[in-house]
Amino acid sequence: MPHAAVTPLAAHRGKALTGCVGVPGDKSISHRALLFAALASGRTRITGLLEGEDVLATAKAVNQMGAAARKAGSVWEVQGRGTSGLCAPAGPLDFGNAGTGSRLMMGVVAGHDMTVRLTGDASLCRRPMGRVLRPLKQMGLQVLEGDQDTLPLTLKGSTDLIPIVYTLPVPSAQVKSAILIAGMQSAGMTTVIEPEATRDHTERMLRHFGAGVAVRAAGAGRAITVTGHAELQGRDVIVPGDPSSAAFLLAAAAIVPGSEVTVSHVLVNPTRTGFYKTLQEMGADIAFLDAREEGGEPVADIRLRHARLRGVEVPAERAPSMIDEYPILSVVAAFAEGETRMQGLAELKVKESDRLAATAAGLAVNGIAAKVDGDTLTVTGGRTVAGGGTVATHMDHRIAMAFLVLGLAADRPVSVDDTAMIATSFPAFLGLMEGLGARFSASDQV
Ligand code: S3P
Repeated sequence: MPHAAVTPLAAHRGKALTGCVGVPGDKSISHRALLFAALASGRTRITGLLEGEDVLATAKAVNQMGAAARKAGSVWEVQGRGTSGLCAPAGPLDFGNAGTGSRLMMGVVAGHDMTVRLTGDASLCRRPMGRVLRPLKQMGLQVLEGDQDTLPLTLKGSTDLIPIVYTLPVPSAQVKSAILIAGMQSAGMTTVIEPEATRDHTERMLRHFGAGVAVRAAGAGRAITVTGHAELQGRDVIVPGDPSSAAFLLAAAAIVPGSEVTVSHVLVNPTRTGFYKTLQEMGADIAFLDAREEGGEPVADIRLRHARLRGVEVPAERAPSMIDEYPILSVVAAFAEGETRMQGLAELKVKESDRLAATAAGLAVNGIAAKVDGDTLTVTGGRTVAGGGTVATHMDHRIAMAFLVLGLAADRPVSVDDTAMIATSFPAFLGLMEGLGARFSASDQV
């Protein structure tokens, strides 16, 4: 899946940011809505689907497998094929930059008697897939071609999958979800034990589509059991705004003096709100307004007013609930008086880029003291940040957005070497930011 040409950009300090905006649909929920709709009998209508490149890659993949997914007016309609009812695609499934789409699809393919080739862009083809393939191979998936750990891979599924009990060796909702998706296509009860709770959208949405899912506490985490031979039924799905996208707008308000920004209709599922909890501990003036439940998920309007911030300790246990927010939290930490110490960041090294290294390098090039010690990142913040650096984004949308936000409050403009990847998760980012008052210009420093 080709991306737009490399587009550098600079962000400049300017006036306060103000306004009330919505953000596009949650990426995790959007991928799941398309995949579960494809595996359901009958029609599913999805309102608020994220139309970023990652999710569109999943939509294309389910179309290639015979589940027609298309936009009809403002909603997406999917004609499902029933559990284990998808067809073998004529060509490879190209997931572009999308880790979630590709890994969850492995669980889908596992339950089908078909051979499928999966591929992606240079970033995705570097990311570890063995963590998903190992449990799926125990269930009966075969890897016919490939190095058993990275894309491209050719996989062969089976309609006789063996249910398993599996303890996650890494806190990954993608691994959990791939196993649960395979499990609901198997012949018995499949249990995933997660020592640390990760985002639970798969559990919630499988139930919504009619599958049997039981969740019980297991130590600090949970054990999730899905009943095999599930028969999913097409449903209506409402996708709330993505808290990982809203984080960039609200972080900008947190660091630009005088700002007040409200983002409406944001998912506030507790497995996703670690960033907001951390902002509160830093002293941010943040309010969750009109908290309500929609389509089985909690949502709220989040308002943030600029306030003085202080550095905090971010415990390792919080990492799964804010795993995608560390780059932007590090930018906020640069403006918080004292040290912010973020622990337990091992998983950051295997995201769209090595986010631990990319974040530390981006901070350093802009004159911010940042130290990596094992899996801990320590940022020393203050009231001003020099800026003036050019940040290497390494094909990572969240690195690009985080450092553009930094430029809105730094003394000198901050440039990023490429903004094309922002379209994978948040195509409206630059326009929404400009609407709040942010100033960007073509970068002459790259
Ligand atoms: C996701 C899980 C997380 C997260 C990713 C989306 C999901 O990845 O970083 O952006 O939708 O399940 P891991 O499962 O690798 O932690």
